[in-house]
Amino acid sequence: MIKTISTTPYTDQKMGTAGIRKKSKIVTQPNYIENFVQSLFDAIGGVEGQTFVLGGDGRYFNDIAIQKIIKISAANGMKKLIVGQNGLISTPASSKVLLKNHADGGLVLSASHNPGGENGDFGIKYATKSGGQCSSKISDAIYARTKEITSYKIFDAADVDLSRIGTQKMGDMEIEVIDPIKDYVEMMEGIFDFAAIKKLFKSGFKFAFDSMNAVTGPYALKIFEEILGAPKGSVRNFIPKPDFGGLHPDPNLIYAKHLVDEMYSDNGPDFGAANDGDGDRNMILGHKFFVTPSDSLAILTDNYKLIPGYKNGIFGVAKSAATSTAVERVAKALNIGYYEVPTGWKYFCNLMDSNRITFCGEESFGTGSSHIREKDGIWAVLFWLNIIAATGKSVEQITRDFWKKYGRSYYLRFDFEGIDTAVADKLMADLEEKLPSLNGKTLGNYQVLNAAPFVYNDPVDGSSTKNGLIIRFTDGSRIVYRLSGTGTNGATLRVYLEAYEKNNFDEEPLKMLQGVAQIAMEVAEISKRTGKTNADVTT
Ligand code: G1P
Ligand code: ZN
Repeated sequence: MIKTISTTPYTDQKMGTAGIRKKSKIVTQPNYIENFVQSLFDAIGGVEGQTFVLGGDGRYFNDIAIQKIIKISAANGMKKLIVGQNGLISTPASSKVLLKNHADGGLVLSASHNPGGENGDFGIKYATKSGGQCSSKISDAIYARTKEITSYKIFDAADVDLSRIGTQKMGDMEIEVIDPIKDYVEMMEGIFDFAAIKKLFKSGFKFAFDSMNAVTGPYALKIFEEILGAPKGSVRNFIPKPDFGGLHPDPNLIYAKHLVDEMYSDNGPDFGAANDGDGDRNMILGHKFFVTPSDSLAILTDNYKLIPGYKNGIFGVAKSAATSTAVERVAKALNIGYYEVPTGWKYFCNLMDSNRITFCGEESFGTGSSHIREKDGIWAVLFWLNIIAATGKSVEQITRDFWKKYGRSYYLRFDFEGIDTAVADKLMADLEEKLPSLNGKTLGNYQVLNAAPFVYNDPVDGSSTKNGLIIRFTDGSRIVYRLSGTGTNGATLRVYLEAYEKNNFDEEPLKMLQGVAQIAMEVAEISKRTGKTNADVTT
């Protein structure tokens, strides 16, 4: 029943910031998924006798890829596979199920916030038994293996019925189909004050949660409407669809514009939120008000005592280097540990495992805590709801109070997309070479404090990672440059802009960041090298 199929390597199966991510057209090529999964199993020393968690965000090819992976797992001697019902599991729920069952690993079939469908993207994220995505060392070993693979093993069996909860067998491997929502809900109930949030909804508080036709729909319906009593219709786009109903499931001001428009209308809801394809990202909105993810991390941290699950204290907090410095000021005030890591959630995991941090976040709409080892979209929304329920203040009031206390970091991210890879690499290399010459220089109205690559030395495993280039100015403003590791179309240059204001809170970010933006464009010669005078996407 176990077949060995010969194959030839693909040369492009390198993992990026979060797993392997490709155009659907690429992953549906013959043996593409088979090669990758077998290489992964080989590179980690085999999976015989092991237990894995498996599921995806329901995007195009989820159903086909999952059956292939089940059969490859069985053929490779896996002992048990815990699979989300109908092949679905959100990234945060997968991390929870993995940790709860002490599983050896987990695979989430998702390209996260990238569009789905036949012309969209597909991907696989691999988590180790820590519950978080594998380190670069492991992903490098997997990549090396993909380049030399000559055969894979697959079980010759009919497809498994994943609609039925319960246990089945494929050869000696046990397949347990579970409802991942149950574990996830229990975990949230253990952290937040559900009774207080229930009361808030009872009082007429108007709430809109957009699942973007992706995986969090059923979780959100259960938690917000069924358990917490938000009015029917509060959760929107809750049926996971292979093409996300045409939506780009990235919860930001551009791709969730329909929600933003509603929130900015006169009778709009008091609170609005959206999640991404696999449920780890979140956007937070008040009525006619947007909270930047960088501010959100800082505000959650500043208010941790209001949350039952954290009221006894938190270890510390971390952010990616590209994220604004708002949370750094909170960490100082609270006198807790503070860390700055490269972009990618995997860099937070050692800090959580070693009790150095409890909260962490990224500017890219990701916030989370050590309850799991992934960012968690619904967790962030519940955290905000809990703060609102405990203080009686609106999203806007909470944020304004925060600015009053700490000042405001105006913040924007410019994305220059679809750049020729060689051009982007050269731009970064040349800029890196130029950085030392900028130190102490005056550019426009700003003076450079220092300009250098960002290098992270992991205090736990001693590994060193270089990710991005940073120009810091004497007034606290910053420019960060890096190339995306999740794009599937040429290179994406990300430019992160930040300006710090102690008293002036009511300006447009674009206006406040104009000077810094101009410097950013000029120093890196973006227009000259890419032909683009403006960013393709500003968030
Ligand atoms: C992007 C985000 C990063 C996030 C990752 C996975 O990676 O910028 O913060 O961790 O997606 O969600 P990038 O494309 O910038 O490498
Ligand atoms: Zn995601």
